[in-house]
Amino acid sequence: MQLQDVLFSQGFGTRRVCAGLIQYGHVHMDGQPVTDAALEVVASSLVFEVDGAEWQYYEKAYLMLHKPASTECSRKPSAYPSIYSLLPAPLRQRPQKGATQGVQAVGRLDQDTTGLLLLTDDGQFIHRMSSPRHHVPKVYEVTAKHPVDDRQLNRLLEGVTLDDDPRPVKAAACEVAGERLLRLTLTEGKYHQVKRMIAAVGNRVEGLHRASIGRLVLPADLAAGQWRWLSDADLALLAP
Ligand code: URA
Repeated sequence: MQLQDVLFSQGFGTRRVCAGLIQYGHVHMDGQPVTDAALEVVASSLVFEVDGAEWQYYEKAYLMLHKPASTECSRKPSAYPSIYSLLPAPLRQRPQKGATQGVQAVGRLDQDTTGLLLLTDDGQFIHRMSSPRHHVPKVYEVTAKHPVDDRQLNRLLEGVTLDDDPRPVKAAACEVAGERLLRLTLTEGKYHQVKRMIAAVGNRVEGLHRASIGRLVLPADLAAGQWRWLSDADLALLAP
């Protein structure tokens, strides 16, 4: 693959921009500037620097983000900054089917919800992780306004009806972690599902944090607002 095509595939701009970055000395490999845009390279696991920032080639991008509160999962946010503004520009510009779509969040979290969010440019991965048929468990830590009692807990486990669907939705698991703290596991992702389920049992969500997806737990050392690439081991924890 030509070096200019590697940069293009990783979101560094149009082919012409990428060729320019190389020709004008912005790109280094092994500490040396590389100025031949048509240089043939082995793309897989290629490491290069653009303006001093190190990048590794990934055919597909799989990331995790610790979503902070007061951010929106929309590209066109209405009240708070977009989560996409937390990512470097190449990740927002990676070409997908000819368009510069960049990575997309796998499902959405509300603006006040914090925690684990996956992003990718792999449409099949998004489908597999989001489809209710695949039953990927997601664990939410819920801070409730009122103490949680056994009746509420049992109703969450047995199923509650939400206003947009007559079929009841139930928690796959639900543990009390404190007087007002719950760990709720869901295998679907309906709009505001946790908040609506908690409201349906007569309580109210005051704080919501997603702790895990599948067997992948948000790492304790990933601070709110930070992102990282998913390793092969992380991806294995997301496999069925
Ligand atoms: N359920 C909600 O109500 N909000 C979220 O952000 C995620 C799940």
